Amino acid sequence: MSEKEIAVLAYSGGLDTSVCIKWLIDELNLDVVAVVGDVGQEHSGLEKVKARALASGAIDCIVVDMREEYADEYLTCALATNALYENKYPLLSALSRPVISKHLVNVAHQFGAKYIAHGCTGKGNDQVRFESCVLALDPSLKIIAPVREWDLHTRNEEMEWAKEHGLEVPTTTAKPYSIDDNIWGRAIECGVLENPWNEPPDDIWEMTVSPQEAPDEPTYVEVEFKGGVPCAIDGKSMSYLDVIYKMNEVAGSNGFGRLDLIEDRVVGVKSRECYEAPGALALIKAHQALEDMVLERDLLLFKLGAEQKWAEIVYSAMYFSPLKVALDAFFDETQKCVTGVVRMRFYKGNCDVVGVKSDYSLYDYGLATYDADDSFNHDAAKGFIELTTLRNRVWSINRHKMDAIPEQMADVDSSVDEFSK
Ligand code: ARG
Repeated sequence: MSEKEIAVLAYSGGLDTSVCIKWLIDELNLDVVAVVGDVGQEHSGLEKVKARALASGAIDCIVVDMREEYADEYLTCALATNALYENKYPLLSALSRPVISKHLVNVAHQFGAKYIAHGCTGKGNDQVRFESCVLALDPSLKIIAPVREWDLHTRNEEMEWAKEHGLEVPTTTAKPYSIDDNIWGRAIECGVLENPWNEPPDDIWEMTVSPQEAPDEPTYVEVEFKGGVPCAIDGKSMSYLDVIYKMNEVAGSNGFGRLDLIEDRVVGVKSRECYEAPGALALIKAHQALEDMVLERDLLLFKLGAEQKWAEIVYSAMYFSPLKVALDAFFDETQKCVTGVVRMRFYKGNCDVVGVKSDYSLYDYGLATYDADDSFNHDAAKGFIELTTLRNRVWSINRHKMDAIPEQMADVDSSVDEFSK
């Protein structure tokens, strides 16, 4: 066992976090254990990432396959809540931080480490999320954010510093974008995208083809849900994780799932973000359509408001918070009857729900039809309208009375008399 204190670092294998390892060792005299979370990101091979961590001076590098856990414990909630921050962003980065944080804390406990470090900048949401999640899970841990503390402002300065400190870093020129990705989607920012007037260049997209290049024939897919969780595609049972992979492929190859938006960060900055989340956005659409069929109206309308709150909480780094836990209990209850099949059509950038069926369907043909089988009680409508409009009519008469010019008062008074009979 080493004499030095240990810092557990969230490691990606890129320049920033490799320099972080060396900086923690040289500047703070710490030993570093790197943790690589596999959440389904495009990577150049996790063994290579591990080798780079060790070459940068880490005493150990733990690679954890978090994909199944991420899908089953975090992305099930994301679907139950149809989670879209500001009604658009499916929270793909925000949702991965809690599961990564949980494993950082586990490794810290395993190694008796007092510190947790991350490579986030001082301007984004992710620093807030990592720190908030880690401290909610173990308030005794201390956070170190080297990128926020060091005075290496450009990639070149980082490369220089690395060279001076004997650290081998990839010599390839930096990609012009900042990317974060996992099975729920891919976030692309920086470079030319920082001017919101610039159309996103074609080379930023990887999970989706452009609608122009998509096939000329539609693709149909049937997604089956059990208790709110997708469990089969086209009749073939599979894990939720595999459903997500499959939907990424189907939706992405049909050009569906690109977003280009301005987003409100927690630190008060508006930023321009491009995302591609083909599977996530398609599954949310399917899930919403099934809920429309099986959830009673008051519950559905109340849920819509609660969904926005949930997305705001998760975006704002409060994943492990009492309000989130309480809301989850509510959402769990709503999902019990979200069982059924949704038929979807993908075609040149579009995704449409074209059929829904469920044993728990509240859609009643007899009540809905305008044909001969109609079982709806039309006579009841008259009394229903009479009472449901009563309070507004009382209010309206009162307002007319207040606004009326004196010569019209007689008319208003007589209608009030008529009304109170
Ligand atoms: N703006 C998004 C969020 O805060 C995505 C951040 C992704 N990070 C990145 N390096 N591109 O959740």
